[in-house]
Amino acid sequence: MPSVPETIHLIQIGEQAGAGSTCSAALDDNPWEHDADQSYGPGASIADPLPSDAPRQGVLPQQYRQATREELDLRIRAAKHALGEKLVVLGHFYQRDEVVKYADFVGDSFQLAQAAKTRPNAEAIVFCGVHFMAETADMLSRPDQAVILPNLAAGCSMADMADLDAVEDCWEELTALFGTESDAEGRQPVLPVTYMNSSAALKAFCGRHGGVVCTSSNARSVLEWAFARGQRVLFFPDQHLGRNTAKAMGVSLEQMPLWKPEVALGGNSETHLHEAKVILWHGFCSVHKRFSVEQIAMARQRHPGVRVIVHPECTMEVVDAADEAGSTDYIRKAIEAAPAGSVFAIGTEINLVQRLANDHPEMTIFCLDSIICPCSTMYRIHPSYLAWVLESLERGEIVNQITVDEATASDARVALERMLALAPGKPVMAA
Ligand code: 13P
Ligand code: SF4
Repeated sequence: MPSVPETIHLIQIGEQAGAGSTCSAALDDNPWEHDADQSYGPGASIADPLPSDAPRQGVLPQQYRQATREELDLRIRAAKHALGEKLVVLGHFYQRDEVVKYADFVGDSFQLAQAAKTRPNAEAIVFCGVHFMAETADMLSRPDQAVILPNLAAGCSMADMADLDAVEDCWEELTALFGTESDAEGRQPVLPVTYMNSSAALKAFCGRHGGVVCTSSNARSVLEWAFARGQRVLFFPDQHLGRNTAKAMGVSLEQMPLWKPEVALGGNSETHLHEAKVILWHGFCSVHKRFSVEQIAMARQRHPGVRVIVHPECTMEVVDAADEAGSTDYIRKAIEAAPAGSVFAIGTEINLVQRLANDHPEMTIFCLDSIICPCSTMYRIHPSYLAWVLESLERGEIVNQITVDEATASDARVALERMLALAPGKPVMAA
């Protein structure tokens, strides 16, 4: 099976018979053709509103835009070889294979942040992922290590759905409503929990207010920790991860009001907020929003006995209809542990699903969504940008460095370290 960019190309030129179509014809364009766009670019997040202050990528030098795939391959390998131990390249599971093949570590956002620490001699950490991941790596790495994001336009539309100003406004309203006094069990009135997919500023906000960070692999353990210390949780930015995790822990839907940032009290009554256990921020991932109950029904009809695993960023209805829900690493491990002949329908980003299918020809593995539609922002990283940042490093020039100021980083590390101190997570819904 070809990689996702190759599949998209074959579909565009009409040579891929029988495959699903793509969500955008522009996916086959070179990514620099979209660097000036006022959107996240082609892919699942294309229609999400891009914040006006979102980082923009400058013009990629022409030699990288014009280089052939073979030339880029030689140049990337040569630069990696020359930089040796001074460099570590990290690749998220959702990156295209054409980039993943140069990564020294491939993993989820949390594993990659940890991986940076295992190369103390690396002066540069090139993070092939999205902006919040590079920020986290910067905060967890040594101050003299430079974290580089090959394309600054690689943000995350879900992370951008909660910004510090809006969360502070919400916090002010909640503090006015609940006060600041802890109850007889020492639990503060409301405790903030942010998903790893958020800015460093929001992680720092959690650090300052007794809160914590979670990932999709430890959200349950983090919520258990938070319920022991807070009467309620304010969970941002992803409503679906918050809802799916809390529901699996027995919290009723009535106790999980949605907070709409533009509306007074988030659009809720005071009574409803007083009775809340988890207040869910109105954020979502446009990649995972694409999966539907109908797709699951179709997969079960076509492949009786199929095992359906979805990411907990999917809607509650989809998680309920699936057999299991877990993080990217949970999905990978479930497939690796399965016997030959197993059939899996997966609800997560297409690059990971297609790679798992390629790596396991002894099984049938397919994406629930037959439309090839990658995460727009992960897709912005292309070998041309990688070649550019690596050759710049070789010349002693650091381009596209991601830095978090020390005041923000020290507060954010408090929330990250609270998470790191917890026992390894349980999946949202295991087999
Ligand atoms: P992980 O935390 O599993 O790496 O997932 C990140 C992400 O963006 C999921 O959509
Ligand atoms: Fe963000 Fe969704 Fe892309 Fe993950 S898949 S980086 S949550 S937009």
